[in-house]
Amino acid sequence: MENRDKQNYDPQSITINAKVPDLELSPEDCLGVENIEPCTIVIFGATGDLTARKLVPALFNLYVNDGMPDSFQIVGCGRTKMSERQFKDRMKNALGDKNVLDQTQWAGFSDTLTYLSVDYEERDSFLNLSEFLKDLDQKHDTRGNRIFYLALPPTLYQPVIQMLGETGLCNENKNGNSWSRVVIEKPFGRNLKTAVELNQNIGRYLQEHQIFRIDHYLAKETVQNILMFRFANAIFEPIWNRRYIDHVSILASETLGVEHRTGYYEQSGVIRDMFQNHMMQLLAHTAMEAPSQFEADRVRDEKLKVFRSLRPFPIDKLREHIVLGQYGRGEIDENPVPAYREEPGINPYSLTPTYAKMKIFIDNWRWQGVPFYLISGKRLAEKRTQIVIEFKEVPHSMFRKTLGETINANRLILGIYPDEKITLTFQTKNPGARVCLRSVTMDFSYHQNYAGPVLDAYEKVLIDCMLGDQMLFWRQDSIESCWSFLTPILNECETCGHRSEMLYLYESGSWGPEL
Ligand code: BG6
Repeated sequence: MENRDKQNYDPQSITINAKVPDLELSPEDCLGVENIEPCTIVIFGATGDLTARKLVPALFNLYVNDGMPDSFQIVGCGRTKMSERQFKDRMKNALGDKNVLDQTQWAGFSDTLTYLSVDYEERDSFLNLSEFLKDLDQKHDTRGNRIFYLALPPTLYQPVIQMLGETGLCNENKNGNSWSRVVIEKPFGRNLKTAVELNQNIGRYLQEHQIFRIDHYLAKETVQNILMFRFANAIFEPIWNRRYIDHVSILASETLGVEHRTGYYEQSGVIRDMFQNHMMQLLAHTAMEAPSQFEADRVRDEKLKVFRSLRPFPIDKLREHIVLGQYGRGEIDENPVPAYREEPGINPYSLTPTYAKMKIFIDNWRWQGVPFYLISGKRLAEKRTQIVIEFKEVPHSMFRKTLGETINANRLILGIYPDEKITLTFQTKNPGARVCLRSVTMDFSYHQNYAGPVLDAYEKVLIDCMLGDQMLFWRQDSIESCWSFLTPILNECETCGHRSEMLYLYESGSWGPEL
């Protein structure tokens, strides 16, 4: 008999006084990453918002927490002419604005920062960059390993990658280069056609293993935890299907409006901005099958199967499946806020949706008939991201005589923001002589028994990119599959004659259109 089987039958081994077993790794052991190879991180769009708000603070935090390689360089590139000193001052202010500036660490970090002005259409500019990087490699032993981070408007993705390709900057193991990776922000294309074209164009210069298509939701700890929760526990998977689950709702509500991104948002709207990427990933994490291994392509294969099983929307009955809305005036945190159409730079007759609710079905054995409601919008009542699994009611209630027909069904909430916790609601007896039930909750807070630092999404993105691990990045086949699903709706919503009838205005600070 196997050792394990023997134990099952050995009365001595039966646990009477059950305690939570010790972790095999201490939480501190899980924090750091070893063996990151030296490299240079080139940020295109270094004078922009993303660099100041997210990228440089993330790199600085990694540096402070020993998350960077022994030797690394950060090269900011932008069209603006600027001295290295000016760039450093700008980044120092950005860290100050985010309250992450640690003066004792700044000097060391700032030594790794340089700036080079680049004209994105000029080949000579890229040849100049190439020489500049070679020089850095020699001085700092960064070994020709490069990350090119495209913190740029999407229209520049293709031309910049073309320049990188034509000047040999992204060739691996040639011209003094070693590995070379390109990080691309969303949106990847505007629809299926443009996403396919973009991929074909950049595919002339890059191989798939060099392309890192970001979705910062994937790098959130609580989103990664969904897979651990589902597949590192035996008790949830048996009931994670159409027999026990009534419906699932996935919510990503925001209180922010369109902010300073009017040009981009007016062209995108909520479906491109939130659904084609973040919402689809949350859906895939909730619905996918267990991969055979926790390895980038095995995980991404399973997600792709979910995307390929999405039931196409019935275009003739679109209104039964989608609600679109746009925020009107209202109050957020008791302050009056303008309507979307009144925001500076927005067309006063704009028909761009800032809210969408979709009812989606997944045509496979596990999920047949279970609706997934995906809801996301700007200027809603709260900033909240969560996945709610609503289980079915008990098949027969023996309490019917005293309590009536309905007993609240069990509910599991996977909180992503701001409640980073998992909550299970179930029924218990209410104390007292009468038979009364009450719903109670069992909570797990993500920070339970843990007080150390937590990686911000961009920190995780940068670490994985330096390690060459693509698990938390989109693969092209999934991008195309999601566009195939959403493009017909976008076509219908953007080109049909009754477009304005499909768009409901909602008050800012509410929970969306009231139908
Ligand atoms: C971005 C969208 O990808 O995600 C924004 O472009 C949105 O419009 C943001 O506000 C939400 O991200 P988070 O992490 O704040 O939920």
